[in-house]
Amino acid sequence: MANFIPEETIRAIENAADIIEVVSESIVLKKTGKNFVGLCPFHSEKTPSFSVNPDKQIFYCFGCGAGGDIFEFLMKQDGMSFPDAARMLARRYGIEIPMPQMAPARKRQISEKENLYALNSRVMEFYRHILVKSSTGDKARQYLDRRGMTDRIIESFKLGYAPGRWDSLVKFFAKEKVPQSLVIKSGLLIKKENSTRTWDRFRDRIIFPIFNSSMQIVGFGGRVMDDSLPKYLNSPETPVYSKSRSLYGLHAARRPARVDKKIYIAEGYFDILALHQHQIANAVATLGTSMTPEHVRILKGIVGRQGQVILVYDSDAAGIKAARRSIELFKKEYVDARIMVLPTGHDPDSYLLKFGPEQFSQAAGHAMGIIPFLIDSAIKKHGLSVEGKIRIIADLQDTMAAIEDAVERSLYIKDLAERIGVDEIAIIEKIIKISLAGKPKLQSARVSEKMAPLVKNTGVGRGVRLEQQIIAMLLQFPEIVPEIIKRNVIDYFEDKNLRTIGKMVIINNTFADSNNDLPGSEKNNTVRIADILSSINDPDIRNTLISLVIEDVEWDKNGCHKLLSQFENSCKRRDNTLLKEISVAEKNNDHVLLLQLLKQKQMQARGKISGKVRTKM
Ligand code: GTP
Ligand code: MN
Repeated sequence: MANFIPEETIRAIENAADIIEVVSESIVLKKTGKNFVGLCPFHSEKTPSFSVNPDKQIFYCFGCGAGGDIFEFLMKQDGMSFPDAARMLARRYGIEIPMPQMAPARKRQISEKENLYALNSRVMEFYRHILVKSSTGDKARQYLDRRGMTDRIIESFKLGYAPGRWDSLVKFFAKEKVPQSLVIKSGLLIKKENSTRTWDRFRDRIIFPIFNSSMQIVGFGGRVMDDSLPKYLNSPETPVYSKSRSLYGLHAARRPARVDKKIYIAEGYFDILALHQHQIANAVATLGTSMTPEHVRILKGIVGRQGQVILVYDSDAAGIKAARRSIELFKKEYVDARIMVLPTGHDPDSYLLKFGPEQFSQAAGHAMGIIPFLIDSAIKKHGLSVEGKIRIIADLQDTMAAIEDAVERSLYIKDLAERIGVDEIAIIEKIIKISLAGKPKLQSARVSEKMAPLVKNTGVGRGVRLEQQIIAMLLQFPEIVPEIIKRNVIDYFEDKNLRTIGKMVIINNTFADSNNDLPGSEKNNTVRIADILSSINDPDIRNTLISLVIEDVEWDKNGCHKLLSQFENSCKRRDNTLLKEISVAEKNNDHVLLLQLLKQKQMQARGKISGKVRTKM
């Protein structure tokens, strides 16, 4: 697929695109030294270890090891293919991808996802036209009007209307000659197995296109205008639509939510429209599912670590259920989630109609943290009789036991004890019992972070660490390359991957020097790293390289020489140790070990010999 986009176009995209700009759209980044850092979107963490380097245009996470260039970021984050990522960037940075006059067969090969986005976009226009321009849409326009939706909202959310016929889209697709296979993949038509007959999925419904954050349409929702069932219908899962990742309104909420560092999560389509109508644009809705870890990551990326997610529910009961379900999810991602319960029977839509936006915002200001909310609800539910207190503790003990942070836990226990007038120790005893029964629940949350090694001090030996530093130095301070070649440093490397990388860097550097019009400039450097990366397939080697490029150390000549001497000393020491080990193995008649050690020695010797040959040249 990649060969559809010519190499020079990829280069043009690389040159035009800015990784900081693109990453910033989903993650809050802060400048530190040469890098920008933020919370990693690819694993749970509390302190930022996700680094982006603007000079080299790469990212790397010291926590989970994810890394790569701008294309890889998009591929990983949005699950795009390489051509999709390239096309998206090309669109964004105004670079034209030459489209040769394509043979029909070739045309079909273009990424399926792109085709589905394009198809969805045409279907959106089709439904929109019917709503806005045709008399078939009268009824739907009146319905929207009755629900207080202005033209501005209808326009900005691209609402539409699917007529009551069974074949509106069937005919549209036939007229437009859309291939049948694509139509079926889009989920917009329904087909019985073993039959060729198809019919429209959405009939006589208000249509809500669902956008992703790149403003592509991934699917649709449709609401009936009377009491018939089902009230809502959504696109099925397709190659571009996954409800566990989709959030309705995200495309419009992203910017305001970043500014406010706050985002509301409502339940329904109309809630989002109503909130927008009342100038509350930082709101999204899950689409008929409960929150998933993917949702939480997306939200955290937008509001940042200091930000706030406010779940809006229509009753205590719904709130409690959702709070229980999502508590772990939010804890795990260290997101400050709050619960806002509207008076029973109200959702944001009806609440805003009745009370207006000021009162809504005021109520939002009183939204409680998840645990205080659960304490509050339990007290409300059971009352403070003796039986009530027993039930309250029974309701809350699991939640309390699952709080991982000892300080936080003891504060909440204290709060609970005071509020229901029970001895703190008694509650603690209960909770200890649960903990001893081995119910880890929230404990998984921090494991990943604890275990996440910082590349700098993982279990790697000192020798390998020196080798890493040498590569990092090579990358940051190319002037040292001749010295490295002269002293034949790379051949002494113990680590195979680092040896490979070292050689590639040197080759590329020599090559870049021979036709240098921009010697040593950042731009030149950038191109070189992209070059090296594009020639490495092994993911381990790639990742190692990226992690080293992104190291934020300033090198000067002095520092370089110091490091090289250090390395050579450690090689000598290694030599001596090796000789010692060999003699011990000989003494012990350990033939297997002896063979291994001799091989190692041979390797080192080879390094020295080739070194001599080179210095003579
Ligand atoms: P209105 O009644 O039009 O105000 O919609 P609502 O959003 O208030 O409806 P409700 O509270 O009943 O549902 C909340 C959300 O759950 C909806 O927006 C849909 O996303 C989803 N939902 C509700 N009913 C159905 C259904 O029958 N099928 C599916 N798939 N989703 C539904
Ligand atoms: Mn509603």
